[in-house]
Formats: sequence, structure tokens, C-alpha cells
Amino acid sequence: MTVRIAPSILSADFARLGDDIAMCVEAGADWIHVDVMDGCFVPNLTFGAKVIETVRRLTTLPVDVHLMVVEPEKYFDSFVKAGADLLTIHQEVSPHLHRQLTRIRELGAKAGVSINPSTPVHTLTDVAGDLDLLLIMSVNPGFGGQRFIPGALEKIRQARALLNAAGNSAALEVDGGVARDTITSCWRAGADTFVAGNAIFAAADPRAEVGALRRLCSEAA
Ligand code: DX5
Ligand code: ZN
Repeated sequence: MTVRIAPSILSADFARLGDDIAMCVEAGADWIHVDVMDGCFVPNLTFGAKVIETVRRLTTLPVDVHLMVVEPEKYFDSFVKAGADLLTIHQEVSPHLHRQLTRIRELGAKAGVSINPSTPVHTLTDVAGDLDLLLIMSVNPGFGGQRFIPGALEKIRQARALLNAAGNSAALEVDGGVARDTITSCWRAGADTFVAGNAIFAAADPRAEVGALRRLCSEAA
């Protein structure tokens, strides 16, 4: 399995977003993770199409957009137009998951679903074949810099089994509290794509941190 590191720009310095993204690219990041929050599904507000468009101009890396918003379908067209490569929506606010995932793919983007720490993996059984990405939240979404919830590991194992059973090679991403002390167990549990905000941007040497996180996976048995 290939390890993907996806720095979350939620923890970047927005006064120098261009420099921070260039740093991620030089450091060998695989995707740039963009957290869209609406102050309704989660108790925080971030950004929308304008920032996605800015990130798109700053890098050729895939732009991985995580929608922590109610009625995510309202934004599919404008976000894909702005340059999103992947759109991940939350199961908890998507009663018509199949239709919503199909629509994302119709627009030419990759379709992902995320589940909160309190949402069971089996709720995705019937769409397991329709995903390009399955995202396990390892914190309650809304803020960067939170502590990893250990129960996420069992959910990663279940999610890997679900994708295998569906014969789906979709990315299995983990988001929240991913750092040097948590990434190896996530990798061993079956995750292959790692979002990291605080671990990278608050590191003494952010450039070195991307490689350090990747090595912890690739060198793990
Ligand atoms: C949390 C966001 C995350 C966040 C992760 O709601 O979805 O992507 O940026 O930040 P860290 O890595 O600091 O936990
Ligand atoms: Zn995220």
C-alpha cells in the first residue's frame, strides 16, 4: 500500500498560505487537505470556493476537500469548478448518499464519505462500492490540534474490511490528531492516507515532518 500524507491547511498561516503550500509540496506531500466548515454541522467556520480556487492556483497536487457542512450538495458544482479533485461529504448529513456520491463523480471529481467518531462503519455498507475515499474521523470534527480518539483504530480495521469485501481499492483516510505517536497504529490498522494539520504546521521543522510521518509508516512492519 502507498502512504499518502495530506497536510491540512486549517493549521497553516493564512497570511502566507502560498509559502506554506510550497513548503508542503517541497516536503513531498501527496494531497492538500482543505477543511470546509459551516458553523452548523460543526461549531466552527472556515472557507469556501474562493480559498479552494486559491489553493488550486498554488499547487498541482490533488486538492482534497473535506466538507463539514449540512446540505453539502449545494457546493458540489462550485467546488469542482474551483478545482477540487476530491469531495468528501459526511454520512451524518447526507440522507441520499448514493445519489450525492454519484453526482460528485458525474462532475468529474472523486467521491468520499466521512464518518464521525460516534457513527458506525456499517452505515456505509451499502455504498462501499461507490466510494473513491473513506474517511474515518479520529476527533470530533471542527478544530485542529485535538487529541486522537483511540477507538478510531478499530473503525479503521472495520473500514478496511468493508472496502476489501466490496473489492474496492478506495483510499482509506484518517483525520484528526494524526502525529508521530499515532500514525503507525493507524497504518497498521489499514489506513493509507493521513491528514495532519497541527503535527506538521506546529512542528519545529514542518518540512521534515512530512517525511518523518511517511517513514514511520513505510518502515513499520
Ligand atoms: C478537523 C479537521 C481536520 C483538522 C486536523 O475537524 O477535519 O482536518 O485540520 O487537524 P489536526 O491534524 O491538527 O488534528
Ligand atoms: Zn479534515
